[in-house]
Amino acid sequence: MAEAMKGLQRSHRCTEVTNKNVGETVTVMGWVQKYRNKGGIIFIDLRDRSGLLQIIFEESDCGAENFAKAEKIRSEFVIAVVGKVEARSGGINENLATGDIEIRATELRVLSEAETPPFPIEEESKTKEDLRLKYRYLDLRRPDIQKNMILRSKVATVTRQFLAEEGFLEIETPVLTKSTPEGARDYLVPSRVHPGNFYALPQSPQIFKQLLMVSGYDRYFQIVKCFRDEDLRADRQPEFTQIDMELSFVDVEDVLDVNERLLKKMFEEAIGIDVPLPIQRMTYAEAMERFGSDKPDVRFGFELKNVSEVVKDCGFSVFTGALGNGGSVRGINAEGQGDMPRKKIDALVSFVKDYGAKGLAYLAIEADGSYKSSFAKFLTEEELKALVEAMSGKPGDLLLFAADEDDVVFAALGALRIEIAKNLGLLLKDEYKFLWITEFPLLEYSKEENRYTAKHHPFTMPMDEDLHLLDTDPGKVRAKAYDITLNGTEIGGGSVRIYQNDVQEKMFEVLGFTKERAYEQFGFLLNAFKYGVPPHAGLAYGLDRLIMLMAKEDSIRDVIAFPKVKDASCLMSEAPNLVEDKQLKELEIGLTIDQNYIWNK
Ligand code: AMO
Ligand code: AMP
Repeated sequence: MAEAMKGLQRSHRCTEVTNKNVGETVTVMGWVQKYRNKGGIIFIDLRDRSGLLQIIFEESDCGAENFAKAEKIRSEFVIAVVGKVEARSGGINENLATGDIEIRATELRVLSEAETPPFPIEEESKTKEDLRLKYRYLDLRRPDIQKNMILRSKVATVTRQFLAEEGFLEIETPVLTKSTPEGARDYLVPSRVHPGNFYALPQSPQIFKQLLMVSGYDRYFQIVKCFRDEDLRADRQPEFTQIDMELSFVDVEDVLDVNERLLKKMFEEAIGIDVPLPIQRMTYAEAMERFGSDKPDVRFGFELKNVSEVVKDCGFSVFTGALGNGGSVRGINAEGQGDMPRKKIDALVSFVKDYGAKGLAYLAIEADGSYKSSFAKFLTEEELKALVEAMSGKPGDLLLFAADEDDVVFAALGALRIEIAKNLGLLLKDEYKFLWITEFPLLEYSKEENRYTAKHHPFTMPMDEDLHLLDTDPGKVRAKAYDITLNGTEIGGGSVRIYQNDVQEKMFEVLGFTKERAYEQFGFLLNAFKYGVPPHAGLAYGLDRLIMLMAKEDSIRDVIAFPKVKDASCLMSEAPNLVEDKQLKELEIGLTIDQNYIWNK
């Protein structure tokens, strides 16, 4: 390599050469995107991370030896070219940043040859994702992925700059640590020195950042890997990155304020989008009531309406039955969709069943005011009129109703409104609607575990006015917790923390921890609080999700250099893998699963 590079230094990236450089000699290096030999004249599109540049080889410019080398070039060879910048002879290529110039080569060095790649290196690849991920290092050469990586780096840089200016210190926290209570399953790492003991990889730096507040660091941040062993989805990876922060001597308002300004700066500088401040806020209760979701997409309407009162005495047993069981009847008005074909309505009915709904009752209002409906026959004229009125139904509208337990109704209609909007092409990716969700419930009841669990995490502060309910009606307690959502995705969340030991102990008690177990697991935090702790609060963004939305991608895999697939494996490195017996022995680990079974799987 030293030999190959001898006497050569890159002067420009491909698209840094412009028509201002015409007449100059430049040295460019990169990969061969395209090669055309027109007999006596060879055209090459050279690619680097900045883009493409056209190179021309003619024997009269570069000499016989270089020309002979040029004739042997193929796609993806890595080459260095010295040449003169010229205005394009053969017409301008509007599609290229460098479309009005070309380089007339005087010297060529082939830095390395390449086999034919398993798929073409091109924008908007049609290659299946599995194959692309197997050869991710080639996939990462594609301009659209490179754009995402560059965007990601830019956002990290802007974040660091902004937070440094705001007085935040970047401090690293351990990766080999103890189980953190974020609610997902931990990834465990066996200890060789302490056989039978395990570290946990952090689900977040939550406890450590709170300890940094106890230690007086006042404003902390970190761009940090977090690990959660949960089922993967388009917006979930087993390892992902947070922009994590914690602040002392603050309350909810202070955290929201600094984060609104951070978001504004990020979007402005990274993608040129203005985020008008203040960002809209909505309580959790209102979000559920109006959108059936704690991360509502507010780019469109189709809000939920509670019609329980209107139908409580009607003759439709689906409605009255659900109400009798303590549930509710709610609907959405798909305005203007009254002529939706039956087949499409049926598709919506089966869609909501995935969310636990038993069905979806519909009522289409025809242009002449008559109804087409799956249940109208069970209601009187008056009842129908009242129902349509409650839904603000007009001729041409389609009303859709779910009757069930509240949880099911919210889940089904919350998802349904998005499905309808998606079908209608209303989910515009260049529209960015931010929304804070506040006043989350502190706890949620787990039927499986038969106890309350923390909705956010056990260090979240109850709202002052609800503190007294902790003993009497814990399910009603609201928390000083907030999420930041963007277009229906939760991009971040945080809370004000409990900093009084008595409240923290009470919280553990409500969560069903004995005092002993609380101390065993979090004793170092509880003890730390005995030595002077400032009131503190914080927030963490999912950086991958944020970049996914900025880049208008549908999956966070497209914004992570080396992502994992659905079964949490890496198709390129083939992690996770079996290890040598010797390694297991050192760790005093014996497998309960048959080795042959695993080998043959
Ligand atoms: P939380 O658990 O809400 O809060 O996580 C913060 C943000 O991280 C993102 N996120 C994920 N992104 C990709 N893949 C995943 N598996 C994944 N899980 C979470 C989400 C989420 O909003 N310690 C607290 C923050 C705090 O209280 O300060 C925490 O981790 O965008
Ligand atoms: P059925 O009486 O089961 O034939 O249902 C009549 C109509 O009510 C059909 O359109 C069903 O899809 C709908 N339906 C059934 N269960 C529910 C429910 N829980 N909520 C809303 N609609 C329902």
